[in-house]
Amino acid sequence: MLQHGFLGYDASLMLDVVVCALVLVVPVLLFSVYSVKFGRRFQLHKTLQLTLAVVLLLAVAAFEVDLQLVHGGWENVVNKDPANPRLSGEQLDAVRGVLRIHLVFAISTPVLWAVTIVLALRRFPSPPTPGEHSSLHRVLAWASTIDITLTSVTGLWFYYVAFVATS
Ligand code: HEM
Repeated sequence: MLQHGFLGYDASLMLDVVVCALVLVVPVLLFSVYSVKFGRRFQLHKTLQLTLAVVLLLAVAAFEVDLQLVHGGWENVVNKDPANPRLSGEQLDAVRGVLRIHLVFAISTPVLWAVTIVLALRRFPSPPTPGEHSSLHRVLAWASTIDITLTSVTGLWFYYVAFVATS
């Protein structure tokens, strides 16, 4: 399982963990946004957003350590046996292209989330209520919401082309 993951494809344990986290984050985020926009439950929204941020940070940190330090990069996970590569040539190039698109969102998301959270913690009162920061928060917050959703969609797309479609 450590070597191949638990979803039944030739990936890795931490890749499968992160794929599950990416799938779960979207409904939790939608619920959090719904609860603040329609339920006006500001404290619940704050707690959910901070919990999501911590869980994602820990999952991604563990994933990066595993991917870069343990496996030595994603290509070694895709092709575990260099003498008998599972993907090569055009197939590997196509996967690399999808990964580049995914990285645009995966790198901008933590930056945008950090700015959104730090400003919200500093500028909203505690417990949080709407105020002068609301209009800027809405812009940053919707950008963060769209960014993490696209990170999730493109991350699943990468997993699909790298492991599912080519298994
Ligand atoms: C990256 C983290 C966060 C995201 C993605 C996010 C997302 C959102 C979204 C989409 C809305 C609804 C805007 C609308 O009505 O159209 C909202 C509203 C709100 N959020 Fe966040 N939020 C985050 C973090 C926080 C934190 C940490 C706090 C509190 C310290 C907070 C407090 C609020 C408040 C008070 C509102 C209501 C603003 C108003 O209606 O005037 N948010 N947030």
